[in-house]
Amino acid sequence: MPTADKEKIIVALDVPNRTEAARVLDDLAGAAVWCKIGMQLFTSEGPAIVAEARERGFRVFLDLKFHDIPNTVAYGVKSAAALGVDMLTIHLCGGPEMIRGAVAAAPGLCVLGVTVLTSSTAETLAAVGIPHEPAAWVPQLAAVGAKNGIGGIVCSPLEIAAVRAAVGPSVKIVTPGVRPAGADLGDQKRVLTPAAAVAAGADYLVIGRPILAAPDRRAAFAAIVDEIAAG
Ligand code: C5P
Repeated sequence: MPTADKEKIIVALDVPNRTEAARVLDDLAGAAVWCKIGMQLFTSEGPAIVAEARERGFRVFLDLKFHDIPNTVAYGVKSAAALGVDMLTIHLCGGPEMIRGAVAAAPGLCVLGVTVLTSSTAETLAAVGIPHEPAAWVPQLAAVGAKNGIGGIVCSPLEIAAVRAAVGPSVKIVTPGVRPAGADLGDQKRVLTPAAAVAAGADYLVIGRPILAAPDRRAAFAAIVDEIAAG
């Protein structure tokens, strides 16, 4: 069954504390399905913030980007699964054994692999001894993820086609860097609209500021759903 358009949007809870997170969740309760809890909010509020989002009926994407020895990552994933999160991230450059360990640790969970951070350039990679252009390394990492059972890949909207070609049809593609038509870009430079990202093959869109900073968050969310449906 195709995913309903509102289920394709993951609202990034990029706020510093529980009070502000609760405001966003209250504004979107019953409309949005997914929220993303990242290192800022999780580090300040701990597992209680995951419980709070779940109690309000949200599915939770825990974006902590695990990267460590396979045993440690596997136990980290297990602990996250026990919190009831539905998706989480690991770094694919942790390698095949780490990826397999993460996937095996929580069979019901969608483990997403991060390829190359969009903040990295060829110079950033060269400075740490990696002789690749990001655009060439992204599909290579995505293919390693797919080969080792990853549930999804996080990538920039401009990398969707290359990643889809590398991973096949069943691996989910999750993309940030999405801006509704006419929206403020903030610090995002290489963006697609929600409809264009879905048309390019994204399964989920991570959207923060266009919803968080809107005067009416519920209306902003609904407008993005409509834009996807119309596209
Ligand atoms: O506010 P905005 O819509 O730009 O938020 C996008 C979200 O996706 C943020 O949580 C950001 O950290 C995350 N993200 C990103 N670019 C990446 C990886 C993650 O914008 N390459």
